[in-house]
Amino acid sequence: MIGERTLGQVGKLAGIGLVAAAVFAAVVILAARWFTGLESVSSWMDRYPGEYHLPDFVDDGFPAWARWTHFLNFFFMAMIIQSGLRVRQQQKPPAVWQPKKGGKKISIHLWLHTSLDLLWILNGVVFVVLLFISGHWARIVPTSWEVFPNAASSILQYASMQWPEENGWVNYNSLQQIMYFLVVFVAAPLAIISGLRMSEWWPKNATKLNKIYPAPVARKIHFPTMLFFVLFIIAHVFLVFATGMTKNLNHMFAGTPVDGWGGFFWMLGAVFLTIGVLFATRPLVLAPIASRFGQVSAR
Ligand code: HEM
Repeated sequence: MIGERTLGQVGKLAGIGLVAAAVFAAVVILAARWFTGLESVSSWMDRYPGEYHLPDFVDDGFPAWARWTHFLNFFFMAMIIQSGLRVRQQQKPPAVWQPKKGGKKISIHLWLHTSLDLLWILNGVVFVVLLFISGHWARIVPTSWEVFPNAASSILQYASMQWPEENGWVNYNSLQQIMYFLVVFVAAPLAIISGLRMSEWWPKNATKLNKIYPAPVARKIHFPTMLFFVLFIIAHVFLVFATGMTKNLNHMFAGTPVDGWGGFFWMLGAVFLTIGVLFATRPLVLAPIASRFGQVSAR
């Protein structure tokens, strides 16, 4: 039995789901191929091939700071999502933490979640500052209205399985650019401002402000933002793998435009390290670390 269903029933449901997904995918691909095959659409796509020219000041490639902040972002986010889900699910935390100078006791998971948030924000600030100093910003911030027709063209190319030209070392396609922009400049600030609202750091006496921006509103933003991040990560990693895995990974993990397995092995190391740390975050390991910054007790 799995829940209320037998293994056979679950298998049957999974089978029906798979067939439905395959039929849906086939219909989308055929429709997109028919549409992009139309004379007028294909000449429109010649005009908007999926990307537009970057400003001249943008350098090719991924400098070390972009690669390190990208890895640290992934590393912190994995732990932030894990501790965030634990805060949500566990009514009775295994231990609580209290600041040295006294104050409200919070669950050890919330202590970990908020401490990691600070590190993640610091990493994000370093990334954004260097982004603007270096000129790399124009790779992930749209600089022309042409981004919209080109993004539509990229969607059509993905849907028809004739995927846009992969040239991430020099330029992203417009759909990629919009998604990276949303992740860095919309989703991350939303996660921060909604998390801050629910945290102990938010001023409790600011009555006017708290009336305009009540905590339940922040709660309604915080969780869906996490879901958006998770969906983004699934699609992002799938596309990194499906559109030239070793080359893409060499860009972001080894900092080189040539194809090879170096970046893949760096990525494997980064993923194993992250999974290892996720397994290690147990109360027994956390308590001695948390007690350096405050008092840890059973309840
Ligand atoms: C928390 C999860 C992640 C987020 C929010 C994220 C976000 C981003 C962003 C914003 C960029 C553009 C960076 C720039 O141009 O400086 C990027 C690029 C990239 N990311 Fe991620 N990423 C995540 C996880 C991953 C993981 C796990 C992998 C590998 C398995 C990965 C592989 C890549 C690659 C290869 C590129 C460059 C794409 C190319 O060359 O076309 N990312 N990511």
